[in-house]
Amino acid sequence: MSLNLTNRPRRARTSAAMRRLTREIEVRPSQLILPVFVRDGSDAPAPIDSMPGVSQHTLDSLAALASDVASAGLGGIMLFGVPTEDDKDATGSAGLAEDGILNRALARVRSEVGDATVVMADTCLDEFTDHGHCGVLTSEGRIDNDASVARYVEMAIAQAAAGAHVVGPSGMMDGQVGAIRAGLDRAGYDDVAILAYSAKYASAFFGPFRDAVGSSLEGDRRTYQQDPANRREGAYEAALDIAEGADAVMVKPAGYYLDVLADVAADSPVPVAAYQVSGEYAMVEAAARNGWIERERVIAESLTSIVRAGADLVLSYWALEAPAHLAASYRN
Ligand code: PBG
Repeated sequence: MSLNLTNRPRRARTSAAMRRLTREIEVRPSQLILPVFVRDGSDAPAPIDSMPGVSQHTLDSLAALASDVASAGLGGIMLFGVPTEDDKDATGSAGLAEDGILNRALARVRSEVGDATVVMADTCLDEFTDHGHCGVLTSEGRIDNDASVARYVEMAIAQAAAGAHVVGPSGMMDGQVGAIRAGLDRAGYDDVAILAYSAKYASAFFGPFRDAVGSSLEGDRRTYQQDPANRREGAYEAALDIAEGADAVMVKPAGYYLDVLADVAADSPVPVAAYQVSGEYAMVEAAARNGWIERERVIAESLTSIVRAGADLVLSYWALEAPAHLAASYRN
């Protein structure tokens, strides 16, 4: 017997060619940004246990990686600095210093790639503070929002001076984007862009990252990062950052926050980024190591889902290898 159907959506799936013709989105390499770690005082790259395949780089190995990012046609590279324990202090001074590891790395990478890819810097104090918080503390040990923002402004100017095309304030302090925009402009860096970590949640999925940067954090970030239960607040944070001059806004983590991402993308007049974070990476690598999932297909599908939900840009630790897995997924 045959059903008398008007609609047979399967007709659009009958061959690889038909599926290619009807595919709604494909992820381009130029949408991908590789986050990288550079560590002070080490003479060889150091693997990160909880992020198999990712290392803390030396300046030399970082420069080589940056040149791979440019030749692969990726959208950009986002730098995180790992200072020596001795260089950490209460206000994160090593993050601002011209000879701090992050600023030295920015200068090195920028001289390596020029304008061939976009050089970005994480603008946050947590890697550089001895208490591990993203800001400076009051004498009672609470986060001092406005004093933290003043540090971010100095940090962003130092990063622009070192060669960053884009600064990425990720500390979730109120007013950080507007203050950084004004500070950059005052210092003559009106063409340095701001990628705002707008909707950043107090997420357990950041766990492996804290290993990656040797974070000293005790306690949590719940007074500045968002409650995972709050969807509406994501769009609110993004709207505020756009009003303050953000050139792009970010949702983070990515894969478990696709509703927030879709909301932000629906209303944003500027490009929307999503950060596929360390925990999203580590879970896939761990399951793949056990033979429980098909690693390459999961990588391609996870990135496809993030772009389908509305991301224009994706930060991913798989950025360099992903284009091959995506291309393979489009062939069948
Ligand atoms: C803060 C920052 C964090 C991440 C990126 N920027 C950590 C945090 O907020 O605790 C997490 C990235 C990841 O998990 O991959 N500088």
